Amino acid sequence: FYLCFCRNRADFYVFDDKIGLGRRFDGIGGLSGGGVTSLSLKMNKTRKANCLETYFGASLHILKVEIGGDAQTTDGTEASHMHYEGDENYFRGYEWWLMKEAKKRNPDITFIGLPWAFPGWIGGGESTPYHYPSITASYVVSWIIGAKQFHDLDISYVGIWNEKDFDAKYIKILRETLDRVGLTDVGIIAADGNWDISTAMMLDPSLYGAVEIIGVHYPGTKTVQEALWTQKTLWSSEDYSTFNDDVGGGCWARILNQNYINGRMTSTISWNLVASYYQDLSFGRDGLMTAEQPWSGNYVVESPIWITAHTTQFAQPGWRYLQTVGNFTHGGSYVALTDGKGNLTVIIETMVIIKKKSNHIASFFERSFVSAQTLQMWYSKFDYANSKSTLFKKLPPIKVTEGFFTLSIGVDEVYTLTSVTTGQKGTYPDPPSSTPFPKSYYDDFDVRKNPLPLMKLHTLLTRRVFLKYFQNLTDPGPHVFTLRQIITQQPIAWATDSDHTISIIGDYSWANLTVSCDVLIETANPGGAFVAARVSRGGESVRKAMGVFFFVMANGTYKVTNDIGGKRVLAEGLSGTKAGVWYTLSLTVKGQFAFGMLNGRVLWKDAVVLNPKNGWAAIGTHSFEFGQFDNFKAVVE
Ligand code: GAL
Repeated sequence: FYLCFCRNRADFYVFDDKIGLGRRFDGIGGLSGGGVTSLSLKMNKTRKANCLETYFGASLHILKVEIGGDAQTTDGTEASHMHYEGDENYFRGYEWWLMKEAKKRNPDITFIGLPWAFPGWIGGGESTPYHYPSITASYVVSWIIGAKQFHDLDISYVGIWNEKDFDAKYIKILRETLDRVGLTDVGIIAADGNWDISTAMMLDPSLYGAVEIIGVHYPGTKTVQEALWTQKTLWSSEDYSTFNDDVGGGCWARILNQNYINGRMTSTISWNLVASYYQDLSFGRDGLMTAEQPWSGNYVVESPIWITAHTTQFAQPGWRYLQTVGNFTHGGSYVALTDGKGNLTVIIETMVIIKKKSNHIASFFERSFVSAQTLQMWYSKFDYANSKSTLFKKLPPIKVTEGFFTLSIGVDEVYTLTSVTTGQKGTYPDPPSSTPFPKSYYDDFDVRKNPLPLMKLHTLLTRRVFLKYFQNLTDPGPHVFTLRQIITQQPIAWATDSDHTISIIGDYSWANLTVSCDVLIETANPGGAFVAARVSRGGESVRKAMGVFFFVMANGTYKVTNDIGGKRVLAEGLSGTKAGVWYTLSLTVKGQFAFGMLNGRVLWKDAVVLNPKNGWAAIGTHSFEFGQFDNFKAVVE
């Protein structure tokens, strides 16, 4: 077919399929992970269902998940399927659940797994996963086999090490290992960073053979010549990471079109899928929609969801781009795709660059589709100033006369013009209203009373460090059901982990409160446990967290510090604490002062806390060591 655009009757844009089609379209995806970005999604059933229904209304083609590595990644930690050598468990974390929910809604969805971090044992003492490449390859391949064996999930692609240097030897060994176990159709995406691997692939035929897709992050819609020379499929395997208001939506519209137009990338994956983590952590609300309040059930369908639908509902993986796609001279862009069976989808975006007065008048002529009388029309327009954007609205079909039609296009608009008639916005009940985190929160971690599927709020705690529900069946006292820290070795990190394990909960705005918890130090040397308040950071930057940290140690001392690293000491002395005994720690912070109690008696007081003024509550262990927690309580004034 043939399509022409004119701008103010002056500029002319032509589509024509006579010169053959462009690349295969591989789909639009979302990324859950890197890390803990979907944590709060696992919640009460009805709300979860509505939220997921709406979410998958975005009709994503690809779901990429983190292969948990026990380390802090962007917004927290995701559990490895092998915490220790010889350990194997394919039911940890929530990514399995999320993949199964996605598959229920789109049986054809493509799954990708990528590690950010690895459990420490993989490196055999080294801080890289490449020192023992066969071990790392077996570890990753086990995850793929586990997905099939325990969840009937087929993983289509696997990556190397998120945004870290790639290692050609490891990539080849990974390919060999996949092939050896019959996973010949699991493709390798590399290297989830910049374009450098393209050159390496051109110089190394076996590396070239091992890599199926060159995946880059945040390419700014551009590609490099070396990547085109490889003639491999190119993907933006992580992109977007923008606050999900309307500006974010506009940005996403531009990326989705221009990654192909400028960069010949045939798939784009959003970091992240859904913003389901505290907004005050790194990159708050950088998801296609928001669901960050498991306590209220509130979720918000943000504009990027509807921008996604402009493409995903009208073009499927396997469709082909036309070669004649492009940028308008005065800003904005257009792509066209066909299934090769007579269907045509055109997506137009005119984001921000063009000035108000310049409307596009677009005229189309479709040579191959002249028989089409109408094209369905879906429309969005961002109204940034008045927050009154129109999102994914079905307009009356546009009339096509002998292959021609004309469209007047304004600024900040997205149009889908398509022969596909199945587009739908759908309606769902309003989500519950947003509320702050409860001011008084208690958890006894009793899985007998609160079976796991119900998932209380302590989900928030458990997944942020390797805390696991634990049953002390020999405990003669009240601590039969506890939460246990179980990671005993520094992971091969992605960001800079803290030397301590930590799990945050509550509300970043909390200022004056009492945090208490029963703790059991399990390791004599250098064992210790803490409760904390006003914690300023989590996830990737937790090492720099400030707050009030009240540590008790197995050597009979206590220490109160202003930073997690323990450099700024606010108080210290003897506590008489030792390993193997349960203690109740309580920390109260009010205005500029703090005091701490041990088993109900004041141990220290009048510590001066000038900063931070607010932050989360937390618990944790002094090092990577076993330790248990029970009866966690936070009460805010
Ligand atoms: C990427 C990373 C993600 C997330 C994102 C934030 O580099 O892979 O996990 O941190 O940046 O923009």
